Amino acid sequence: MTCSWTKPNVIAIVYIATFMSIMTYSYLLNRKFSFTLRVKKNLCRGIPATNTMTPLKDNRTFIIAPYFDNRKNNMTRVISIVHHKDVKELYCWFCHSSNGEIYISKAQIDVHSDRFDFPYGATDVKCLEPQDWEPHYVSIHWSPKGDIDQLPLFEIRNRDPEGSLVDFTVCISTMFGEYNNVLQFVQSMEMYKILGVARVVIYKNSCSPLMEKVLDYYIAEGTVEVIPWPIDSYLKVSFHWHHSMDPKDIGYYGQITALNDCVYRNMYRSRYVLLNDMDEIILPGKYADWKTMMQNLQQQHPDAGAFLFENHIFPKTVFTPTDMFNISSWSTVPGVNILSHVVREPDRKNVFNPRKIIIDPNKVVQTSVHSVLQMYGNSIEVPMDVALIYHCRVPQQVDLPRESLIKDTTLWRYNVSLIGNVNKVLQQIIS
Ligand SMILES: *[C@@H]1O[C@H](CO)[C@@H](O)[C@H](O)[C@H]1NC(C)=O
Ligand SMILES: *[C@@H]1O[C@H](CO)[C@@H](O)[C@H](O)[C@H]1NC(C)=O
Ligand SMILES: *[C@@H]1O[C@H](CO)[C@@H](O)[C@H](O)[C@H]1NC(C)=O
Ligand SMILES: *[C@@H]1O[C@H](CO)[C@@H](O)[C@H](O)[C@H]1NC(C)=O
Repeated sequence: MTCSWTKPNVIAIVYIATFMSIMTYSYLLNRKFSFTLRVKKNLCRGIPATNTMTPLKDNRTFIIAPYFDNRKNNMTRVISIVHHKDVKELYCWFCHSSNGEIYISKAQIDVHSDRFDFPYGATDVKCLEPQDWEPHYVSIHWSPKGDIDQLPLFEIRNRDPEGSLVDFTVCISTMFGEYNNVLQFVQSMEMYKILGVARVVIYKNSCSPLMEKVLDYYIAEGTVEVIPWPIDSYLKVSFHWHHSMDPKDIGYYGQITALNDCVYRNMYRSRYVLLNDMDEIILPGKYADWKTMMQNLQQQHPDAGAFLFENHIFPKTVFTPTDMFNISSWSTVPGVNILSHVVREPDRKNVFNPRKIIIDPNKVVQTSVHSVLQMYGNSIEVPMDVALIYHCRVPQQVDLPRESLIKDTTLWRYNVSLIGNVNKVLQQIIS
């Protein structure tokens, strides 16, 4: 009895297996074929851009990347850095990749309002696309005339968004100055992961060799994506945010441009994007993690596209004993141990705490550091009992006596998983 149905079953399996392998083979063949076809068919000329930052020949315009944006009309928005006075005219040379046709469109040069008096600023070079075809490539030039072979050629990003959507991405604008704050970096990374991050995008100008090792660890893990940010090869960069404090070409290593690029780069890859620095952690008081927090906030404010969190400084010069934690092995690691810094400066009357932002990238058009400049939707100020920014750095209120600081050990709630996770990373790095 058993035999009589096993045999046809075997035959059926053989049939199915054969059928499946033929299907798989033809699918692969097809994929390979259409892939080669697509590569072959790109007839766009120009010099393919290979770096994060491409200077135009005028040395006054630096292109980061073009992004398709169809939220209002069919537009290519080219995230750039331009000299606000010298650059008066730019053109998008759209290229049809299968027939090489070129459509030239005059750009609207939209220098972001937050330029803080620096001559160069984050800029959207906005071009309407041709009406009857979808360009995948574009060149940027100061004239509608010229030699296409001499112009840089960019692929337009976000044209066909694909891949999966993660919940949270943190954008770290500009790591610079041979950054070597390894312990605080690893602690922040592990806190972001505990709170729900899937990806951390770091615009890297420079860091130490040890930090390089740490980044490689997180790149291999799949958490970190490094975007090279060689802005000081082209412009004199300021360490400060306002021109009057340090009169150079552009503020704070081009931070605002990096943030805007990060918003568009993650528009179809991440439900939410956090725009904060490496020494800042958006720390929920009411909820265990960002997901629960954002579900609640978004439910209360369905139209909101930006959630602003208050900055609170936990001075790295004021220590609280951590003898109850088994972390003496960390003392050899360069950098700040955030578990030791759990007192914060009090609010001051008439002094505004700058905020940092969690955005829904789909709703944001232009962002600055502490607020969104243009968006579809509105901004919500999140009260500090819901969450605050744990910002561990040099004190702002330098002369404050210790008694005036407020003990806030919210961070310690995570001690068990944070310490365990940090130990795992350090064991891999320091060996
Ligand atoms: C642009 O900069 C490069 C390198 O610094 C220099 O060789 C070139 O002459 C500059 N071009 C203009 C138009 O200023
Ligand atoms: C944008 O392009 C698509 C596809 O070509 C077209 O269907 C749509 O009508 C265009 N939208 C606008 C606002 O022009
Ligand atoms: C302290 O942590 C180290 C790892 O960093 C571990 O080897 C050791 O067993 C721990 N000691 C105690 C008492 O838990
Ligand atoms: C460390 O975290 C555990 C819960 O995971 C908590 O019970 C304990 O109180 C925390 N330690 C301190 C010193 O806050």
